[in-house]
Amino acid sequence: MAFSKKEKYNVAVVGATGAVGRRMITTLEERNFPIERLVLLASPRSIGITFKFKGRTVPVEILTETSFAGLDFALFSAGASVSRQYAPFAVQAGSIVIDNSSAFRMEKDIPLVVPEVNPDAIPDQPGIIANPNCSTIQMVVVLHPIHARYRIKRVVVSTYQSVSGSGQKAIAELTTQTTGVLESKDFIAQVYPHQIAFNCLPHIDIFLDNGYTKEEMKMVNETRKILGDDSIQVSPTSVRVPVFYSHSESVNVETEEPISAEEVKKLLGDSPGIQVVDRPEQNEYPLAIDAEGKDAVFVGRIRDDISRDKAINFWVVSDNLRKGAALNAIQIAELIVRR
Ligand SMILES: NC(=O)c1ccc[n+]([C@@H]2O[C@H](COP(=O)([O-])OP(=O)(O)OC[C@H]3O[C@@H](n4cnc5c(N)ncnc54)[C@H](OP(=O)(O)O)[C@@H]3O)[C@@H](O)[C@H]2O)c1
Repeated sequence: MAFSKKEKYNVAVVGATGAVGRRMITTLEERNFPIERLVLLASPRSIGITFKFKGRTVPVEILTETSFAGLDFALFSAGASVSRQYAPFAVQAGSIVIDNSSAFRMEKDIPLVVPEVNPDAIPDQPGIIANPNCSTIQMVVVLHPIHARYRIKRVVVSTYQSVSGSGQKAIAELTTQTTGVLESKDFIAQVYPHQIAFNCLPHIDIFLDNGYTKEEMKMVNETRKILGDDSIQVSPTSVRVPVFYSHSESVNVETEEPISAEEVKKLLGDSPGIQVVDRPEQNEYPLAIDAEGKDAVFVGRIRDDISRDKAINFWVVSDNLRKGAALNAIQIAELIVRR
């Protein structure tokens, strides 16, 4: 069934009770996405849960193979195995799938889209569109204008990723552990292999044979796919930190063309989706707590690399549940309904 323009659309959020799914619901409402019918889907564990949407109470339904009849969009954020199992049924029913999981991101025929970077990757009649990994999205929004002007050769990035990137259970775990430590109570680490409260874990997702984690290799491979340039070298280290919301990243970029921090500040200030916060003399630079709930990717500490020519350093912060997940997916849907 071909996609056709309408005044309002039937939309499903798959994984509606999760950290990303909840942001999907509030972001759809805030941005006034043209919705006729909102269908909220999750596992049988969530039966009885309801959400408010535009003044109405919407119950959560159990996801099944037949959930997608009559739906124009299915926004998936229920993990890769759920996407692999159910996205084909959604496509078969004629829905456009926008998938937040890693299930399809690196498949050759599936577009991996960040609207500020590669909106033209969305085909006329989309089936599945993949939403990139949260740490990759905020980095490529900033790398894109730099690459267009100076040609990027190499990126060295270290991430400081919030626990909400691991879902609802991790948010609860940081809360329990923080009070547990402060009140000298016993607790066990369940979501992470070690205590996350008052700690930093250089370990996100599983370790691969090359010594990097899967999260780190997502930043390598997805960056190249989105920027459409396999020659870009990316050297990542991903770290989980005891922060609830927003990921922060320290990024060093080396370019083919001569580059300067002054020029980059101006360039990024004029680029879509980016807000430059860079007045260190006033103690102003991007902070995780300030980025929470905001749409922009915040950049600051933009400075020349004192160790080599044609290289700069900067600090990037964005809300991983918003631009890193729900907002990016909804922006993709908006591009489709507006064109
Ligand atoms: N958190 C982030 O910053 C972020 C960013 C980008 C992408 N993602 C991706 O988005 C996905 C969800 O992440 P999250 O952080 O929102 O996780 P989460 O908080 O753990 O939520 C998972 C959601 O999936 C649902 N679900 C799990 N198994 C299901 C099944 N068999 N059938 C139907 N629904 C099922 C859960 O429903 P129940 O409540 O009923 O169990 C819940 O709604 C993951 O693929 C993740 O990699 C997350």
